[in-house]
Amino acid sequence: MTTTDNQTAADWAARGAYWAKTAPDTVSTTDDLNQLLITLAGIEAGYNVLDIASGAGDPAISIALKVGVEGSVTALDASPEMLAGARKRAEKLGLENISFETGRMESLPFDPATFDAVTCRFGLMSATDPVLALRGARRVLKPGKKAAYLTHGSREKNALFSVLWPAVSRFLGEEDNDAGARRYRFSEKGSLVTVFEAAGFTHIEEREVVKTNIKPKGERFWQTMLMRAFGAKIEGLEADGLEALHVSIEEAFAPCLNGDHYELLSTDMAACGVA
Ligand SMILES: C[S@@+](CC[C@H](N)C(=O)[O-])C[C@H]1O[C@@H](n2cnc3c(N)ncnc32)[C@H](O)[C@@H]1O
Repeated sequence: MTTTDNQTAADWAARGAYWAKTAPDTVSTTDDLNQLLITLAGIEAGYNVLDIASGAGDPAISIALKVGVEGSVTALDASPEMLAGARKRAEKLGLENISFETGRMESLPFDPATFDAVTCRFGLMSATDPVLALRGARRVLKPGKKAAYLTHGSREKNALFSVLWPAVSRFLGEEDNDAGARRYRFSEKGSLVTVFEAAGFTHIEEREVVKTNIKPKGERFWQTMLMRAFGAKIEGLEADGLEALHVSIEEAFAPCLNGDHYELLSTDMAACGVA
């Protein structure tokens, strides 16, 4: 692994505890995105599915519910700390058709033509070599079966990122360097198609997924993202410091208020292809 890879792995390991703490009890609060991946990958009951970069279990948990007892899901992630949240959710749901693997998407530890579908939600952006990672996904897919990936749209089209990062960075007296972050590397239309093609997939489709999330005024809807992204940095804040942080975040989101609710733009890029 290169130095950058090591830094990324250490970063995810450090964030793992906060993801596990904030993991939903059972089904995801953003299950619509999981269902989209299930549809794009053509997942049916009885399928044997690989979910890459599962983190705290999305979409792996939703897929396990979809494929049922005749099917199975392998949830793979480079960070065992991140997978802890997924394990916790699977246990709560009593799922016995899901297994967990620590491994990197650039060197998948599976035989060729093992899976009926491959999914990956918000993981490809972290790949050292996305084309290599996608080639690996194609290799472990049975010929004719599909892979479906989701990446983030641009920062400007994602209110949670474009408002939260500057607000928290300002509060902490740090530079806001999120704008150039890897998370946006597939935000341009056509960029997922390019890497899917280079990896040898056929019948490639790409779409922009635009939503407006509605949250009631007064709800601290940023709490999960705040903990996941900045947990280690804000852990040491006293109660009044934490309250001051929340107040400044609330002020930063004021332009998104419309009467009694917030309207939060969210944009992702989805792509699928046939092996
Ligand atoms: C943004 S999280 C997404 C987690 C989950 N899929 C979701 O949508 O909530 C990215 C995940 O990718 C994992 N990851 C980063 N680089 C990886 C790699 N090279 N191979 C496998 N997993 C990786 C991280 O450990 C982290 O769990």
